[in-house]
Amino acid sequence: MGKQNDQAFIDTLTLPEKAALVSGKDAWYTATLDRVGLKRLMMTDGPSGLRKQNINAAVTGINDSVTAVSFPSSALTASSFNRTALNALGHHLGKAARAEKIGVLLGPGINLKRSPLAGRNFEYFSEDPYLAGEMASAYVDGVQAEGVGVSVKHFAANNRENQRFTSSSNMDERTLRELYLAAFEKVVKHSHPATLMCSYNAINGTLNSQNKYLLTDILRDEWGFQGLVMSDWGAVADHTAAIQAGLDLEMPGKGPASTQEIIDAVNAGKLSEHDLNRSVLRVLDLIATYRPDSETVTPYDLDEQHAFARKLAAESMVLLKNNGVLPLKQNQSLAVIGELAAHPRYQGGGSSHVNAYKVVTPLQAIQTAAPDAFYEAGYQLNSEAADADRLQQAVSAAKQADQVVIFAGYPASRESEGFDKTSLSLPDNQNELIDAVTAVNDNVTVVLQNGSVVLMPWADHVQGILETYLAGEAVGEATWDVLSGAVNPAGRLAETFPKRLADTPSYLTFNADPEQENYREGLFMGYRYYDKRQQPVAFPFGFGLSYTTFKDDDLKLTVGTDSVTATLSVTNTGRVAGTETVQVYVSNQTSRIEKPVKALANFAQVSLAPGETQTVTLTLDQRAFSWYNPAIKDWQVDNGDYAILVGTSSQDIRLQATATLNWPQAAKPQVTLNSYIGDVLALPEAQSALKESGLTDVFAPLASGETTDQQMLLNIPLRSANMVGATQEQLDQFLSLMTN
Ligand code: BGC
Repeated sequence: MGKQNDQAFIDTLTLPEKAALVSGKDAWYTATLDRVGLKRLMMTDGPSGLRKQNINAAVTGINDSVTAVSFPSSALTASSFNRTALNALGHHLGKAARAEKIGVLLGPGINLKRSPLAGRNFEYFSEDPYLAGEMASAYVDGVQAEGVGVSVKHFAANNRENQRFTSSSNMDERTLRELYLAAFEKVVKHSHPATLMCSYNAINGTLNSQNKYLLTDILRDEWGFQGLVMSDWGAVADHTAAIQAGLDLEMPGKGPASTQEIIDAVNAGKLSEHDLNRSVLRVLDLIATYRPDSETVTPYDLDEQHAFARKLAAESMVLLKNNGVLPLKQNQSLAVIGELAAHPRYQGGGSSHVNAYKVVTPLQAIQTAAPDAFYEAGYQLNSEAADADRLQQAVSAAKQADQVVIFAGYPASRESEGFDKTSLSLPDNQNELIDAVTAVNDNVTVVLQNGSVVLMPWADHVQGILETYLAGEAVGEATWDVLSGAVNPAGRLAETFPKRLADTPSYLTFNADPEQENYREGLFMGYRYYDKRQQPVAFPFGFGLSYTTFKDDDLKLTVGTDSVTATLSVTNTGRVAGTETVQVYVSNQTSRIEKPVKALANFAQVSLAPGETQTVTLTLDQRAFSWYNPAIKDWQVDNGDYAILVGTSSQDIRLQATATLNWPQAAKPQVTLNSYIGDVLALPEAQSALKESGLTDVFAPLASGETTDQQMLLNIPLRSANMVGATQEQLDQFLSLMTN
């Protein structure tokens, strides 16, 4: 058989066949064309394990899928800050997909966590675009190295679930580029994903599935994306308009309704065959590249994947507080309290739900390792009301125990794809339980299972807090690994934990309007907001404790031609081996624009034996010093000073140095008649022209800026500089010298 993805092949296809190819056959397959021997390609969710469904199951029949390992959700894996681990996760998912003859894995989801209320935050990586982009790229590289394509989703600005099919994410261009598109840009340019999944929502009033600016101008023309764009399931409102805008594959197709719409549009001259062929070719390319050849499929080892899920979960968990209670003491009695210990929440609801291979609960893992530990449920998971008997029994158990671990978290009903949360509080009965237990025992650790941020009103009264998010099917073993000290926790928060819902950046607007989601906080989202507002938080972005301590020293910067390199040494100053996550933030001291106090620009992990020191080198690329300038429709870097901050969280900056850029590719300062005298005098690049035109002398009496009069006069533009004695000739000469 000849090639099935070239123009000659397309020319053999009939219009109905082409229309069928751009319309998914059903929920999981592309069309089969028997006449020309074209086979179908299967795709399947999802980000944290395979959800290959029985073909007859309803899309929402979440339990009717093959058995697969449930890996930790992305909220937890991002907390690893570990590119190597995310790459390995991708390999495991790719292997599983191939063994199930899947061509495209529908993930990862990389939208930013704009509001902690957003229902799908558990499936996403971070509030920070750099971290999200790095994690996603590593994951995508892993999956695709196994010969399976990915669908990076949900493109773009799909940051809430309520009315997700219709709501419009409204924001300015810088916010779009610098935050909500940045991780997608990174993955597209770095990892060349096979497909992108276009999200349901609109951006600034245009549905993403019909958004040419998004799907063609930015994605293809600017970023050079060569792959296919498919719709999120049911996201296409107008198939013809979608293809014209750059969407290639409607998923799932609406059967004859979808194909007939395309046939009619072509026949009526509304859709050109050229546009249709472009999408057909991309579908054919996808099938040719990623449809697995059944002969070469090799089975994979689910136990090996379970062991990896355990390791990844344990290494990603975030130790938020530890007043010496962890690791647990083996020779002391232990009470395990909380129904979530016996019935853990280890994955989120919706399309990422996996029919797990082997769930090991925390209670099972603890009782295997510490058979004398006693357990009380403490509360009912599916109720908000306190259960007096359970509470009482838990308090009595806590009174008798040397150490207590309480398992708390959101019940499944609170957190899922498809709707947003309305509160960040744990159910009342869980908070009451924690209060009651801390009143009778001084060695209480709370283990949290939740897909996203929770409030911890009891944080000051407990001695330990371990954030385990939704840890996948090995939740029990991984949690015990950390509690027991077998694994030294290395996770860092990929999102800020606020003190109150009312403190969060989008609190005033999130879900306020069913149709319009206005991103009024703009660039100030996540830690960028809390930093700027100096708003105290419960736990900052990047934060996480270890069972050992680290010290950073000797920060040195080297300014290259288009990057800055930071070198420092990290020492393990404690008594056990551990892993530190060095975070480098850039603080732009130069550009006169709205900007955050600082932004994450790179990070590295270093594993150290007690007393060991290692040198760490991190490169900060030009993008770390750039901002998106809508006026020039491009990224701009400005010469000047940038503080390079090295920290162990966004709020614990340990070392600082200044990089002064003087790059030829940087923007030239623009001087016009509207430039202010004070600004012009401060510009190194203006000094010779000021002198030559005689303006240095004219402005000399103002230059020191010491008196209020001087300050007032410095604050007038050149066009009014006649008021301080400048002549028109001098101004003309100055401007012509500056522009030539
Ligand atoms: C979700 C996607 C998912 C698709 C297929 C949609 O509802 O938004 O993330 O891949 O369903 O299950």
